Amino acid sequence: MRITVEQAAAQLRSGAVVGVPTETVYGLAASLDHPAAIQRIFTLKNRPADNPLIIHLSSIDQIKHYVEALPEGFHALAQACWPGPLTLVIPVIVERIPTAVRAGLTTAAFRVPGHQITRQLLELTGPLVMPSANVSGKPSSTTAEHVEADFGEALPVLDGGACIAGVESTILIFEEDRWALGRLGAIPAEQFMPILGYLPSVSAVGTKPLCPGQRYRHYAPLARLYVGERRVGDAVVGYAGREYPGAGKVFLLGADPSAAAEALYGLLRRLDEEGVTTAWVDLDVPQKGLWLTLLDRLHKAADKNNDN
Ligand code: TXA
Ligand code: MG
Repeated sequence: MRITVEQAAAQLRSGAVVGVPTETVYGLAASLDHPAAIQRIFTLKNRPADNPLIIHLSSIDQIKHYVEALPEGFHALAQACWPGPLTLVIPVIVERIPTAVRAGLTTAAFRVPGHQITRQLLELTGPLVMPSANVSGKPSSTTAEHVEADFGEALPVLDGGACIAGVESTILIFEEDRWALGRLGAIPAEQFMPILGYLPSVSAVGTKPLCPGQRYRHYAPLARLYVGERRVGDAVVGYAGREYPGAGKVFLLGADPSAAAEALYGLLRRLDEEGVTTAWVDLDVPQKGLWLTLLDRLHKAADKNNDN
């Protein structure tokens, strides 16, 4: 059910769960003051309870309520990237944030989103928790139609059009005295170099991921995606301007990384809508910038060994 921003605010204030657009992907929103609504998000998404939620704020100032002190570099990052697709994970005053939101951790994730309608909503509601509006493990939603496809027409959805970034926010986590990369996202890691004076580190392969959510299978359509040697006749997920001789159905992402990211989840969803069972994924793209985020999502979508 499509609703206006005023209706969305009223519903959220009375404890409903609402589909909400952001500049990255659609979120499934609940008010921070409504524990039952927060619980309902976990149930609707079939989300593991150990995967914490991001708190969305309408201004940088609101963060002061939740923390004793802000870590070094916080202001520089927030000033440079907020409102926008950056999530910052910092130590918090635990009594001020429901345990379920933090998944019992002593830190919490915050972001000030950039989409105009999201900002308008947050000003009416106060802080909202919002995981991506998809069933856990499935591709995220970048249109109101995607949200309805996953959760049904009865769910109230604020329609803000198609998300412009198309991939989730980048997550930085403050660890002891430096920021580390918890999730690749809409802001390429290189962009933090001039802000912080160093490149945020990435956790080593095989070590415990910094974001609990990174442990789980993600972004995967029902279609089996594979990488490596392409088999003739299979469907292809590739890029505009390239030739894929002998391919079955061809699904093309844009030739530049922003266009590719914007179209990614819609394209993964389309594989299932069109009944594709097996598709080869072209991963031959530059290993830098936003392409790295795209590679991360495509690898995860194709990874059948990460099936927990
Ligand atoms: O772009 C986005 O960030 C979207 C839009 C709706 O804002 N939201 C989003 O939320 O991607 P979700 O729940 O799909 O992903 C949140 C990620 C998860 O991987 C979770 O583990 C991590 O953030 N996270 C949240 N709180 C954390 C914390 N305290 N420590 C480490 N990771 C945390
Ligand atoms: Mg998600």
